[in-house]
Amino acid sequence: MKIFKAWNHPKDINRIKANLLNGSKISSVERRFSTQEFNELKSIAKAQLKARTFFSKGYKLMLNSSDLRFATPEIIGDYRAERIFNELGRVKVVDLFSGVGLQTISFAKKLKHVLSVEIDKRKFLYSEKNMRTFGLRNVTLINGNVFSDEVFSRVKEFRPEVIFADPQRKEFGDRSDEEELIVRIYTKFSEVTENMIIEVPPYINLKSLRKKLPKFEAEFLSVDFNLRRLTLYFGDLRRFRTSAVSLPSMAYTGSDGCVNKLAEVDSPRKFLFELDEALTMSKVFNCLFKGAELLDCGRKAILTSDNFIEGVDSAFFQAYEVLFFKDFEDEFDEEILKKLNAFNFKYVVLKQGFNSHTYWSVRKHYESELGNNANKIAYLFKVKDKLVLCQLVNPISN
Ligand SMILES: C[S@@+](CC[C@H](N)C(=O)[O-])C[C@H]1O[C@@H](n2cnc3c(N)ncnc32)[C@H](O)[C@@H]1O
Repeated sequence: MKIFKAWNHPKDINRIKANLLNGSKISSVERRFSTQEFNELKSIAKAQLKARTFFSKGYKLMLNSSDLRFATPEIIGDYRAERIFNELGRVKVVDLFSGVGLQTISFAKKLKHVLSVEIDKRKFLYSEKNMRTFGLRNVTLINGNVFSDEVFSRVKEFRPEVIFADPQRKEFGDRSDEEELIVRIYTKFSEVTENMIIEVPPYINLKSLRKKLPKFEAEFLSVDFNLRRLTLYFGDLRRFRTSAVSLPSMAYTGSDGCVNKLAEVDSPRKFLFELDEALTMSKVFNCLFKGAELLDCGRKAILTSDNFIEGVDSAFFQAYEVLFFKDFEDEFDEEILKKLNAFNFKYVVLKQGFNSHTYWSVRKHYESELGNNANKIAYLFKVKDKLVLCQLVNPISN
């Protein structure tokens, strides 16, 4: 199949970007390309505009909107490169299923040499352009099937210290074969090195995987408190059974199987602790927060305690002081409104438990009835059928 050389038309991509930003005319661009070609240029323009927030040089990267959906954000790619570097030094790495090469770029910036494998010709060609954009010479790109004998021989000859794999995830449909794919990748490539890293879907059944694979660390990774990746580390790269890492702070913690379980309670104590989603999912928090109780175990666990938590990296949680709580009747509550005014709040951030569809109407309703000038922000949670009014606690001043 003939590949449209979209990278030869950077000026047209820029004109489409200008059109998307300020509506400038692009009919002359549209006329010079077939519909399919124009759509690809437009998709690249859209992806570059979005990619500016995830990647340095994102505005120049060769990738379309669907590539961007699967691409590894630079903050995550750089963290993984750093983790390998800290563990093994400036080693050689293989990047299987490399797409348009965004994880490859992060590896190449930090490590000795990267051998990357991508089956799709267009993505392979885009990744070549991306390596040039970043001025990277320590990368070898292969356009091929990860499971072919030819690719396997090239990987073996390369003698990597680490093999990383980010296989295609299904967006919908039957996902039962994903576990099989992970086992297949490990089984084949651990012959080359046991220092493997495999990115897996966050909903994968880890219990079942652990029965089929040798010991691995399951690392839950969040960016800005939201879970973004689940990655398995094998061989010398394994530190714990389960771990959590929070970016951008790079706070990291792990456990080798925690049997402790925090007691559940129905009412808040003096403080609330809203945990990072990676820490929540990893369940490692059960061992870290001694003395606290579990109030809510949603996407981000909410713990509560009469004392401020000590000995846990504060990058993993946000602490709040509880000012008032009452049984839940409605999202907009007159008694809460009175308290908000009494405490001199001007803004109300609605937290876990509130309906996302009515978020702004409820918030605006509260804020329209607050006549305070001080720029004080309140935080309102709906947990265990209670409305809990809080304010932030700065752990440093505690
Ligand atoms: C999740 S994406 C990888 C994204 C990439 N890690 C990044 O950071 O941009 C998975 C990629 O695997 C490729 N792929 C799927 N099956 C493959 C195979 N058998 N061999 C090589 N690549 C394959 C897909 O074309 C897709 O680009």
